[in-house]
Amino acid sequence: MFFAQGFWFPDGASTNTGDHDWLFHFILAISAIFFALIIAVGTAFVLKYRRRPGVSAEKSPTHNGTLEIVWSVIPSILIVFIFYYGFTTYLASRTMPPEAFEVQVTAKKWSWEFNYPNSAQDPDLYVPAGKAIRLVMTSEDVIHSLSIPAFRLKQDVVPGRYTDSWFQCDEPGTYNLFCTEYCGTLHSKMLAKVHVLPQAEFDDWVEKAADIVGNAPSLLAAGEILYHKRGCAQCHSITGETLTGPSFLGSFGTERAISGGGRVTMDENYVRESLVNPQAKVVAGFQPVMPTFKGMKDDEITAIITYLKSLAKGE
Ligand code: CUA
Repeated sequence: MFFAQGFWFPDGASTNTGDHDWLFHFILAISAIFFALIIAVGTAFVLKYRRRPGVSAEKSPTHNGTLEIVWSVIPSILIVFIFYYGFTTYLASRTMPPEAFEVQVTAKKWSWEFNYPNSAQDPDLYVPAGKAIRLVMTSEDVIHSLSIPAFRLKQDVVPGRYTDSWFQCDEPGTYNLFCTEYCGTLHSKMLAKVHVLPQAEFDDWVEKAADIVGNAPSLLAAGEILYHKRGCAQCHSITGETLTGPSFLGSFGTERAISGGGRVTMDENYVRESLVNPQAKVVAGFQPVMPTFKGMKDDEITAIITYLKSLAKGE
């Protein structure tokens, strides 16, 4: 049980799980064996050679060739083996298969954005099963780290440069994705799901996701979908509750003070400006922490404005 896979890790779901887990358990076992051995021998010697009245200390022998060779050669063999196995496993995980399907990843405080070749975009990662996937990652603000424990994958996501990693998952299913680099207030909520779909289902999804507004029954419905899909919900409630940003409930059309002085009416142009250039007019009392959405399509911005208007009227 102690050395069983499920005790230390979630069940592995990627093709490289076997090597990673095997090496981890091998090193763990060696460490446990030597820990027990050293503590046991140490304790035995402490008891055996403790100071006793009437017994004076003897001179210890200076040299034991056999013993020294044994305690040098055995650990050397173990360490070279661990290095060889670890290095080849690492190389395999760092060598991107040339035929891999690429997904662009953008990390920002505090959500993930996954972009596909056909311009589909989602805060969750969708991939086809049975195919090598290469993630090309960058950050809009601070250092984040993308981690998918079930795939034994972890890679820092750094502003101003691209990092990458790859995996292949043959089992359709849903897996957890975490940010594992402390990145501020909502670091612990910077979560996403990995949806591994059969190829046909994935093709269907990616086609629909490329045109959320076109596939939604109405502009209002598209706005509501985008409110969740683009990560607005993380910081702007629709219930009146104040989170990291102001609530959207009843906010459209109202006037508010902005930090640095002045007032602004929340109209169509203010919403658009706040998406494209969030730091331009920050509502007084809030931190200027919103990431930019300057890549957002015009029809998506219109859909979000429609949704905000409906919240103002309490529909
Ligand atoms: Cu992003 Cu922690």
